[in-house]
Amino acid sequence: MGVTPKIAPSMLSSDFANLASEAKRMLDFGADWLHMDIMDGHFVPNLTIGAPVIESLRKHTKAYLDCHLMVTNPIDYVEPLGKVGASGFTFHVEASKENWQELIQKIKSKGMKPGVALKPGTPIEEVYPLVDCENPVEMVLVMTVEPGFGGQKFMPEMMDKVRALRKKYASLDIEVDGGLGPSTIDMAASAGANCIVAGSSVFGAPEPAAVISHMRKSVLENEEKC
Ligand code: DX5
Ligand code: ZN
Repeated sequence: MGVTPKIAPSMLSSDFANLASEAKRMLDFGADWLHMDIMDGHFVPNLTIGAPVIESLRKHTKAYLDCHLMVTNPIDYVEPLGKVGASGFTFHVEASKENWQELIQKIKSKGMKPGVALKPGTPIEEVYPLVDCENPVEMVLVMTVEPGFGGQKFMPEMMDKVRALRKKYASLDIEVDGGLGPSTIDMAASAGANCIVAGSSVFGAPEPAAVISHMRKSVLENEEKC
């Protein structure tokens, strides 16, 4: 298949008052990426962090910062996030109907990796043009809960979207986000997801390192079967 597992603890479940040490803890436990949930209180009914916090965290770590933009106007965030060292910039397809081409181009020009996310109610066909075009996104994030909050229940019916994507794109990074953990990882990995976001299952575990390695193993085993 040619994709590698990326296990990305969601820092939304961390102690935000100790973000740098929480990030270090997750990397020491074997995390590949740090998933940063940026919410504007408008696209979703929750408000979290923005570029100033990414800037502060960047001073403490060289890790890949996988930014998930749950915002109404993603284009306004490209320049500020690029400037402070964000690594991935994943915007929602529902918020970029008018300007996704410009967005992708701008994200790349700031040295970030562009990704597109879709909510549970959005059909998978809506992201195909963004992957099939000349200047495509490099990751698709399939939401497996309604965006906005951690700790929700995984929606197994979203795996049809992941399967459809993997069938069409053998080497695309496919990320899943929401309700992932030891009891749901096999469903996501066997459907073809290779980038795994997990908040409460990692931060709430007595041994986060074991949860991270369990999820990596599941992705690797399923990849071998392909
Ligand atoms: C939800 C966020 C997720 C969230 C996942 O809107 O995008 O990244 O933190 O948390 P868990 O793994 O607890 O569902
Ligand atoms: Zn997220």
